[in-house]
Amino acid sequence: MKTPFIRPRSTEDLRACIDALASVHRSDRYPVDWPADPGRWLTPSDLLQAWVAVEGSDVVGHVGLSQLDAATLEPSLATAIGTPVGRVGSITRLFVTPQGRGHGHATHLLDVVRKEAANLGVTLMLDVSDEGHAAIALYERVGWRRVASAHADWLNTAGKRALVHYYVSPDAVQEPTQSE
Ligand SMILES: CC(C)(COP(=O)(O)OP(=O)(O)OC[C@H]1O[C@@H](n2cnc3c(N)ncnc32)[C@H](O)[C@@H]1OP(=O)(O)O)[C@@H](O)C(=O)NCCC(=O)NCCS
Repeated sequence: MKTPFIRPRSTEDLRACIDALASVHRSDRYPVDWPADPGRWLTPSDLLQAWVAVEGSDVVGHVGLSQLDAATLEPSLATAIGTPVGRVGSITRLFVTPQGRGHGHATHLLDVVRKEAANLGVTLMLDVSDEGHAAIALYERVGWRRVASAHADWLNTAGKRALVHYYVSPDAVQEPTQSE
């Protein structure tokens, strides 16, 4: 496993991140539909921080940490995760270029976000389409726990409503959901 150089994403990295995302979209249909504004897609309004994995001057990987709130996290999902709304962060926009794969870059990117989430005191979750076989294999291999599945309102590569799986981080501690 190569140890990539991972650092916080800067504004100047955005062009290279869009180029990397374009190569991922071509090879994997991730995202399923190419966004009208890829820079904005990589910078959702709830984004707390993003990181890039670089090899030389090339961006080969990307990940973001979003803060979920009551508007973006359904109560039933919060219950499944076992943590109060307001203390949940989500992995977002994780990808590694086809050329950069298989060297542990995604594993290292996930570790960086897990450390940041621990510093912030938020429980970390993620969602992944049922079609994301490599991503699912990765999450399960490094100990993420599937807590729920549901159909989303967007279409997968087959043009059907995507089945989305929700995972919590290996660091997540389940808390009682009812006060006594
Ligand atoms: C999923 C993805 C991020 C993995 O990136 P990566 O840097 O190659 O991942 P790693 O090298 O850290 O892989 C670690 C583990 O993931 C799993 N994995 C990664 N790619 C895999 C593949 N093509 N098939 C099966 N398992 C795979 C394996 O368990 C692997 O462990 P191993 O190397 O001991 O076999 C990359 O394939 C990708 O960008 N896919 C398209 C975008 C995407 O699906 N993003 C996630 C959205 S939720």
